[in-house]
Amino acid sequence: MTTSDAVTSTGTILLGPIQVRGEVLAIRRSGDYFLLAFAAPGVPERTLPGQFVALAVGDATTSMLLRRCFSIHHVDPAGSLGGTVEIVVDAHGPGTRWLADLKRGDAVDVVGPLGRPFSLPKDPVPTVLVGGGYGSAPLFTLADKLRARGCRVDMILGAASESRLFGVLDGRRRATNLVVTTDDGSQGERGQVTDVLGRILDENGGQVIYGCGPMPMLAALAKVAEGRGISSQCAVEEAMACGVGVCMTCVLPVTGNDGITRMVRSCTDGPVFFGDQVRWDAVGTVPDDCLGSPNAGRS
Ligand SMILES: Cc1cc2nc3c(=O)[nH]c(=O)nc-3n(C[C@H](O)[C@H](O)[C@H](O)COP(=O)(O)OP(=O)(O)OC[C@H]3O[C@@H](n4cnc5c(N)ncnc54)[C@H](O)[C@@H]3O)c2cc1C
Ligand code: FES
Repeated sequence: MTTSDAVTSTGTILLGPIQVRGEVLAIRRSGDYFLLAFAAPGVPERTLPGQFVALAVGDATTSMLLRRCFSIHHVDPAGSLGGTVEIVVDAHGPGTRWLADLKRGDAVDVVGPLGRPFSLPKDPVPTVLVGGGYGSAPLFTLADKLRARGCRVDMILGAASESRLFGVLDGRRRATNLVVTTDDGSQGERGQVTDVLGRILDENGGQVIYGCGPMPMLAALAKVAEGRGISSQCAVEEAMACGVGVCMTCVLPVTGNDGITRMVRSCTDGPVFFGDQVRWDAVGTVPDDCLGSPNAGRS
């Protein structure tokens, strides 16, 4: 181990991130998104499901100083040019649009893998994986790991409409059972992922829910898990400036095993958290009972 490596609470050794200058191998559309594959030697071997990469955007004179963070969708240590990484880009702002305009052979500056991954259950229990929009990106490698452990994997993918879904074909290949929901009914069942979650849990006896997607979706699935006395792990997407634990822009209130709420950094302590430990109703605030809150003891 080196000084940048770490051990998770479940004993998994995390190899620290590296910075590499990679090269774009392919970019193609997938619904409303762009699937960007690039060579990033050394990153795949270190990556576990749920971790993310931070990419520099813009040219040498750009005003876009901050790296942009993306869940790692897929890695291949034996890919061309010595290891490849795939991410899913929702091009909506200056940084993501710049990435979507990249061409094969262009250079990319990558730091990763960052953050803490999903924990795998010790026993081969049934699981349900829930992805909202491009939030499903990290769930497919997770599904592979879970199945390799003997876990049953059911998957729910949801989005506002068909073009905002990601990975339906991948999901069909990997999950025992895949349910798709869209708000407008353009594909699968009309409604939201949480409308069908209870039914899927009843059917497969799910013991762990894994989720990645918008915060309200994560809050809702954590509530469902708590109500059933089962576990949930949620990969959150708080706005991140540095991505490496320095700036504190990504903090959210999380209650530890000691019952104390602390503002923790989602880039280094997350992005994956146990759903019952996040204070979902207080995200974006510093609750008065949080350790170090300026209002502590006033209420
Ligand atoms: C862990 C993680 C995983 C993600 N995975 C994906 C993914 O798989 N696919 C995808 O498309 N997107 C993903 N995102 C979101 C993606 O990082 C943002 O959409 C992207 O940074 C937007 O960049 P932009 O320049 O296009 O847009 P803008 O919205 O203009 O973002 C500009 C920059 O400002 C930062 N920023 C915005 N608000 C704040 C704030 N309050 N404090 C500090 N910094 C701020 C943003 O993080 C970004 O770096 C992920 C984000 C995180 C944190
Ligand atoms: S993004 Fe800077 S500390 Fe998390």
